[in-house]
Amino acid sequence: MDQLRKSILEDLPEIEWISDPALRQGTIDAWALALEKSSFSRISEIPGEANPGMMVMRRGGQNVHLSGVTRLALASVDYFAAVYPEAVIDRDIVIAGGLCHDVGKAFECDPENQKRWKADASLVGRPSLRHPVYGAYICLTVGLPEAIAHIAACHSPEGDNVKRSLECIIVHEADVAWWTISAASGLTQDGTIPDHFTKKFEPRKAREMQKAAE
Ligand SMILES: [Fe+2]
Repeated sequence: MDQLRKSILEDLPEIEWISDPALRQGTIDAWALALEKSSFSRISEIPGEANPGMMVMRRGGQNVHLSGVTRLALASVDYFAAVYPEAVIDRDIVIAGGLCHDVGKAFECDPENQKRWKADASLVGRPSLRHPVYGAYICLTVGLPEAIAHIAACHSPEGDNVKRSLECIIVHEADVAWWTISAASGLTQDGTIPDHFTKKFEPRKAREMQKAAE
């Protein structure tokens, strides 16, 4: 296995939880393609931010967010499976969808693209494509199922224009929860929480932590 694929498995160990081998492979392929087309060399290099410059985490890259959203989403799946086993939820689609929902951030958060779009937004827009749109393109290109492309495309406000699938709703709610709890817990950098969020809560000051030895 090449270095890039190895780094994807290191950054997103939850990939191993996907039981369908084709879906597991597709998840790795999606991230490999997105990274190859970007100036990032691994997922953990992509800044932990909701959008460029917005909700910027004090620490932790995009891998921490992806794994966190996937785990929160899975907690919902496991809860309903235990209490309401009659609910039909595709666990594999939730895991792969959680891990791929922000695959387009390799494009939208790429500093090279940011520089280009900032220089003249009249040329191709700023950004030309938000991460959900670019993410759907990546998922379909590597042959991931429509259900995963839909989660990438519609986990965000883009999905407010359509009826979301059940698995997309689970990832979407986990994503919103992850960002809201992070921001309200004071884990995001000052001045990076957008107004529509700051209206809803006062971030609590996070505890001072010893800097881990590099
Ligand atoms: Fe996300």
